Amino acid sequence: MKTLIINGQNHHGSTYHIGKELADKIGSETKEFFLPKDFGEFCLGCTGCFVKGEEHCPHYEKLKPIVEAIDEADVVILTSPVYVMHATGPMKAFLDHLGYRWMVHRPEKKMFKKQGVCISTAAGAGMKSTNKDMSDSLFNWGIPKIYKYGMAVAATGWEEVSEKKLVKIHKDMDRLAADIKNNHGKVKPGMKLKGWFMICRMVQKNGYNPLDMDYWKQNGWTEGTRPWKD
Ligand SMILES: Cc1cc2nc3c(=O)[nH]c(=O)nc-3n(C[C@H](O)[C@H](O)[C@H](O)COP(=O)(O)O)c2cc1C
Repeated sequence: MKTLIINGQNHHGSTYHIGKELADKIGSETKEFFLPKDFGEFCLGCTGCFVKGEEHCPHYEKLKPIVEAIDEADVVILTSPVYVMHATGPMKAFLDHLGYRWMVHRPEKKMFKKQGVCISTAAGAGMKSTNKDMSDSLFNWGIPKIYKYGMAVAATGWEEVSEKKLVKIHKDMDRLAADIKNNHGKVKPGMKLKGWFMICRMVQKNGYNPLDMDYWKQNGWTEGTRPWKD
């Protein structure tokens, strides 16, 4: 089992510590990336990834190690502190670069067996919208099991978090890690993901982007093959 953490911040604050605690409790081999340190580019809007192929992205080589780590991982954890009610700019800029992998374009088959986690912390509010910023991508990449964890830490750093909140966080991470270990190798897409796949399949049958259409055809998805089946 392999766990990947992509942190939407460089620093080791409350958000980082919760993500790391979860990975430690899962207890598998873990890889970590920090944004923007490990990838800090903004999408230029050239649409090369959609129309010509992802290797035409001007940031392709810089992005590649993170994309490879996503493909190899069984569990993908995205973390972000809440910044003005949403995910951090570096997290958003990173997720923009994976738009070509969204269901309406060219989702990667490997995603359909993974588990994903979104973790956010705020002083008071905004965890729901921040986790949605991240879970929208995990869902559209094709990840069938997504957990969301938001905590209003009432602090601007990990050392300020109250003992009472720390006890709750430790307990929550015990439970979440146990669920993830228990579901490893067993996750299957639900109605919502399957339904969205089928709508995108219809789009690709009468599509507008030849690259996407070929991709779906070659995978056999416009016929009877499905990415969640072996
Ligand atoms: C630029 C910026 C914007 C923030 N916006 C919010 C916000 O909208 N709502 C909130 O409750 N806290 C907000 N905060 C506080 C952080 O979300 C909170 O302290 C968080 O736990 C920090 O996580 P960290 O320790 O991982 O950096 C903001 C902090 C910064 C630096």
